[in-house]
Amino acid sequence: MTADQQLAFRTISSTNPRSDSERDAIHGNPGFGKYFTDHMVAIDWTNDLGWHNAEVRPYGPLLLDPAASVLHYAQEIFEGLKAYRHPDGSIWTFRPEANALRMQRSAHRLALPALPSEIFIESIRQLVRADAAWVPGAPETSLYLRPFMISNENFLGVRAAHQAAYYVIASPVGPYFAKGVAPVSIWVSTDYARAAVGGTGAAKCGGNYAASLLPQQQAYEHDCSQVLFLDPQHGKYLEELGGMNIVMVHRDGTVITPELSGSILEGVTRLSILQLARDRGHPVQERKVSFDELRDGMVSGEIAEVFACGTAAVIAPIAALKGRDFVVGDPAAPAGKLTMSLRQELTDIQHGRRPDRHGWMMRLV
Ligand code: COI
Repeated sequence: MTADQQLAFRTISSTNPRSDSERDAIHGNPGFGKYFTDHMVAIDWTNDLGWHNAEVRPYGPLLLDPAASVLHYAQEIFEGLKAYRHPDGSIWTFRPEANALRMQRSAHRLALPALPSEIFIESIRQLVRADAAWVPGAPETSLYLRPFMISNENFLGVRAAHQAAYYVIASPVGPYFAKGVAPVSIWVSTDYARAAVGGTGAAKCGGNYAASLLPQQQAYEHDCSQVLFLDPQHGKYLEELGGMNIVMVHRDGTVITPELSGSILEGVTRLSILQLARDRGHPVQERKVSFDELRDGMVSGEIAEVFACGTAAVIAPIAALKGRDFVVGDPAAPAGKLTMSLRQELTDIQHGRRPDRHGWMMRLV
């Protein structure tokens, strides 16, 4: 299939959708990733036929053979993006081409087939059209879209699967963290790394997140919401959090973030925040940042603000860092000014409250 080919989608409507009142109740308190819409997208792929059988169908369990290779060798990748209801009722998404391209890069690393960007975007459009009523409109809410791909060939030999499937599910969401947009504390993991040199750290694959769960548990045990990983080679340079990138603001206004080292994820929110900061005239540095630089800078005040960013949480202010033998920052400190103003600007663009000067938004409905 060439990159500009499109697939015709078949729609099988749910015969048992949630009632308006059930949906309203979910929209009233959506949490994050707890509830799912009435439909999903499924597309099959085989070596012989390429991408085929595209459908929007009722949300429901997948039928997998116990020998399906994903269950044994973890050939799985995913994406995360959101649909936003604008004040006039229209529904939009944010930079979906960037997610489509990243999924192609992840597919390459995990030896899965590349899904053409046109099909990726059409799959999002089809699902959001079918479940448009599920896109919430309250502040800080959106419909989180989770495209993912698995190898589903029933074969235990260790090689790239000759058969795969792509799905999209959707979940109405509020803030990612239970405390809302309040500053969080971060656990600095010195016991574990998230990714290896030459490994899959830059791919959005489930295995990276699986590797983050034990240190994430340690974070919870220390009253921290996320874990910060250091580079796998030296244990010295900042990489990323369990599921978000990290950004610092120097007191001279410079915005600093770890460079794309090959083992961190190229976040779409990271990219967009750096652009908004540049637009405001802030110098932006993508470079190696040692943990010592961050810790000492927070203590001296050279580093004035720290935040995490990702699609799910947008921007989460970081108030404190904790590790085996240190605490820096004050867990009760308020969020940084630039942090919150960049957050406001980005969410205003996404929710249609401010002009989209970079052409980042795509209308879906
Ligand atoms: C996202 O931000 O979309 C992610 O995939 C990260 C995950 C922690 C929800």
